[in-house]
Amino acid sequence: MPRLLVTGGAGFIGSNFVRYWLEQHAGDRLVVLDALTYAGNLASLEAVKERSEFRFVHGNVCDTPLVEGLLREEAIDTIVHFAAESHVDRSIHGPDAFIETNVFGTHSMLKAARKIWLEERALAQHRFHHVSTDEVYGSLGPADPPFHEQTPYAPNSPYSASKAASDHLVRAYHHTYGLKVTISNCSNNYGPFHFPEKLIPLTIVNILQGRPLPIYGDGRNVRDWLHVRDHCRGIDLILAKGRAGEMYNIGGGSECENLSLVQRLCVAADEAFRGDPSLAIRYPDCPAARGEPASASIKFVPDRPGHDRRYAIDCAKIAREIGYRAHVSLDAGLLDTFGWYTEHSQWWRGVMDGSYRRWIETHYRDESLLRTGDRARS
Ligand code: NAD
Ligand code: DAU
Repeated sequence: MPRLLVTGGAGFIGSNFVRYWLEQHAGDRLVVLDALTYAGNLASLEAVKERSEFRFVHGNVCDTPLVEGLLREEAIDTIVHFAAESHVDRSIHGPDAFIETNVFGTHSMLKAARKIWLEERALAQHRFHHVSTDEVYGSLGPADPPFHEQTPYAPNSPYSASKAASDHLVRAYHHTYGLKVTISNCSNNYGPFHFPEKLIPLTIVNILQGRPLPIYGDGRNVRDWLHVRDHCRGIDLILAKGRAGEMYNIGGGSECENLSLVQRLCVAADEAFRGDPSLAIRYPDCPAARGEPASASIKFVPDRPGHDRRYAIDCAKIAREIGYRAHVSLDAGLLDTFGWYTEHSQWWRGVMDGSYRRWIETHYRDESLLRTGDRARS
C-alpha cells in the first residue's frame, strides 16, 4: 500500500485531494505537510482529522531536514507536491514568497527525496508527483491551438515563472539523478474549499454579501475550468499509470470568458434564491434577496498587469495513455459549487480573516469594491 506525503494539503486542491484519496484508498497512510499560510486552513481537513491513516504536520517545505525526517519516519514512498503560493495577483504585488516556496521549496523537497529514496534506502518503487499549472505555457490568441506537452514554456507572471522554474528542477532531478517524477500541468480549478480570492469563490461570496463583482479589463480573457474532483482523479490516474519522467496536461474542456462565467454564476444565484426562500433570510444583502438580478453588481475594474488572454488545454496525451477525461460539466459544477458556498458560510467567513481583508484593501485600492453590505456577519 502506498504511503503518501501530501504537501499543501490544507489548501484548496490539496484538501480536496486528501478527502478524495482517503475515500478512494481507505487504509493508505497519508501525511500532510503544510505551513498554514493565509491559504491553508485546518477547517478544510475537518472531515478527515480523526482518521487513523491521517496525520497533519505543521511545517515548511523549505525545511529540508524536517522533510527528510518525515520520509524516514513514515516510510513515505509517494510525494504529491501541491504546496505553493498560488495567486497570480499576489505574485504581482510581492514575488518573493513565490520564489521562496515555489522554487526553493520544490528544490528542498527534491533534495530530501533524492537523499532518502536514492541514497539512503535505494527505494526502487517511489514517485515524486509535482502539481503544476497550464500558466507555464504563457498566453494563447483566440485562434491558437490549445497547449500540449511540447508547447514551449513562456511564463508571464512571477507566479507562472516560479512554477516553470520548479517544473524544470523536477525534470532535471529525473534526468540527472533518476528520481521517478511525474508532472501535471492543470487548468483553472474550482469547487468546494476554494479560497475566496480567486474568481469563482470571490464572485460567489460577493454575490451572497451584496458586494460588487470585479471584472478585470474587458472581461474577455478565457480560462479552461476544471472541477477540482476531476483534477484529483487525474492525479490518482497519473500515480497509478503515468510514466516516470513524463508531464501530463489536465484540462476540463470548458473554455469560458470571465464575464460570461460571472454572468452564469449570477443566473445561478437568481434561480437559487427564487427556489429557496431561506436563502433570502440567510443572505439579506444579496440582490437576489430583493428580487434584483445579481448581475447588476458586476463592476469593470483596471486590468491585471500582464494579464494572460487565453488558456486552453489539449488533453490528448493523458486521455490516450491513461484513459483520463473530465466528468463534471461546467454547468453542473458551477451549480454544485454555488450550493456548497451557500451551505458553508462558516468556512468562508472563517478564512476571510484580518490578513485577507488587508490584502483586498491593498490590492483593489477602490473604496467602492470594499463596500460592506454584509448585515449577516455583524
Ligand atoms: P492554495 O493557495 O489554495 O494552497 C496552497 C497550500 O500550500 C496552502 O495550504 C498553504 O498553507 C500551503 N503552503 C504554502 N507555502 C507553503 C510552504 N512554504 N510550506 C508548506 N506549505 C505551504 O493553492 P491551490 O489552488 O490548492 O494550488 C495547489 C497547487 O496546484 C499549487 O502548486 C498550484 O500551483 C497548483 N495549481 C493550482 C490550480 C488552481 O486553479 N488553483 C491550477 C493548476 C495548478
Ligand atoms: O490556470 C491555472 C491557474 O489558475 C493556477 O495555476 C493558479 O494557481 C490559479 O490561481 C488560477 O490562476 P488565474 O489567474 O487564472 O485565476 P484567478 O481566479 O485569479 O483569475 C481567473 C480569471 O479571472 C483571470 O483572467 C483574472 C480574472 N479575475 C480574477 C479576479 C480575482 C477577474 O476578472 N476579477 C477578479 O476579481
